[in-house]
Amino acid sequence: MSRYDDVVNLAVRRSLFYPASEIYSTAPAGMYDYGPFGTTIKRKIVDLWRKQLVQKENFLEIDGALIMPEDVFKASGHLGNFNDPMTQCVKCNTVHRADKLLEENSKDQYREAMPVAELTAALRILKLNCPKCKGELSDVRQFNMMIKSEIGVVSKVPTYLRMETCQSIFLDWDRLVKTMRVKLPKGVAQYGTVFRNEISPRQTLLRLVELHQMETEVFFDPKEIDVIERWDEVKHYKVNVLRVGQHAESLTTEQLVKEKIVSGKLIAYYLAREQQFFELLGLPLEKMRFRELDDTERAFYAKEGWDFEVETSTGWRELSANNYRTDYDLKRHGEGSKKDLSFLREDGSRFIPHVWEISIGVDRTFFTALELAYRQEGERTWLSLPPSLAPIQAGVFPLLSNKPELVIKAKEVYESLRDCYDVMYDGTGSIGKRYARLDEIGVPFCITVDFDSLAKNDVTIRARDSGKQQRVKIAELQDTLYKLITGKMNL
Ligand code: GLY
Repeated sequence: MSRYDDVVNLAVRRSLFYPASEIYSTAPAGMYDYGPFGTTIKRKIVDLWRKQLVQKENFLEIDGALIMPEDVFKASGHLGNFNDPMTQCVKCNTVHRADKLLEENSKDQYREAMPVAELTAALRILKLNCPKCKGELSDVRQFNMMIKSEIGVVSKVPTYLRMETCQSIFLDWDRLVKTMRVKLPKGVAQYGTVFRNEISPRQTLLRLVELHQMETEVFFDPKEIDVIERWDEVKHYKVNVLRVGQHAESLTTEQLVKEKIVSGKLIAYYLAREQQFFELLGLPLEKMRFRELDDTERAFYAKEGWDFEVETSTGWRELSANNYRTDYDLKRHGEGSKKDLSFLREDGSRFIPHVWEISIGVDRTFFTALELAYRQEGERTWLSLPPSLAPIQAGVFPLLSNKPELVIKAKEVYESLRDCYDVMYDGTGSIGKRYARLDEIGVPFCITVDFDSLAKNDVTIRARDSGKQQRVKIAELQDTLYKLITGKMNL
């Protein structure tokens, strides 16, 4: 069993996530509900993103509508280009994603952007049949992944569910410029749900129809791509990159710019900031890389593209797409809406801003953070999540749940912490079972009230990863917990 399976089993056991509408057999694949602790971990990932990649950068955050008119996607190019290659079994009619099917059955790499004739030829050379019924497979054709919706009672307005959060950022840009005193470069960010009519949804949270993104579009003047106020903070920081046709290497942002590996300082700066964000999620640096996309892989709107990937039990997994979208989107929406979306420079000239996009898949990041935090030793299983992602920062228990004096004291301790910390009181089952339950959802600390606590007004704090325990005075507990959670102190 791989770590991937371990996480899926853990998720089922602890209801971290599970198939949506699961009590109905008609529920379509590719949609998942997050359970109580899963919801909190996901929210904390988004909170950390908001802190690190939105607030600290002085960016603006919006929350746009999920449904947008067809004209938006005609202009953006998605109606014509947002396609995946599909092949269908002529016997059982099952539809398969052609590039994925080929990859699963050969050592070669196949890209969704490869011409359909090439993918069809590969299917024939490998003599592939339907994995379900062994029937013959059709020629490969492009399938548009947008999901149509109709609004209105009498006359229907053609609309679509958004397939990336960034479109409303482009549509709102001009309003934000006029009302939010925007100076370039300026990022606009959005967290939210998007929808893709995925040909064969699978691998739980990794290939979904309904998914979550946290996206940032950094608008900038292309003449000032090398003007970055906080450059000194990152210029010696090393970013892991894998260039087309090269080996993976770790290069400073200065090298990325000097050797023209990226188009400018702005891009190197945000690659660094993003890698730092993923480090904060507890992902090991040696398992990360930005992989440069070649001409056949880049999205239709991108001039330069880097996928952020993490090495997992199922191979390198893409967690984010980073695209230099140039002035493509604002230009197209300017034409589509017949509005002037240009920006006024201080010297009075006007231009269409360029865009650097950081598009992070939330569900994949969530799954991968869990997978890389998963630990197993003998009977013991735990998630070694950083305290900032743990659904609960500390559990509070009485040593024995049938001793009222311990229960009363433990509840007092719990009450004294709950306004400042995410704590949970647990008074059921044996202490060993309580530790095991909280270890499995990644709770970093457990606080226990025992008989000595009654006399000495202290508690025991146990660390999840090391199992080490330390006695702490109740009067000092708030401070100590703060130091432990923020890493200023270790047990
Ligand atoms: N906005 C880029 C993407 O959704 O892939």
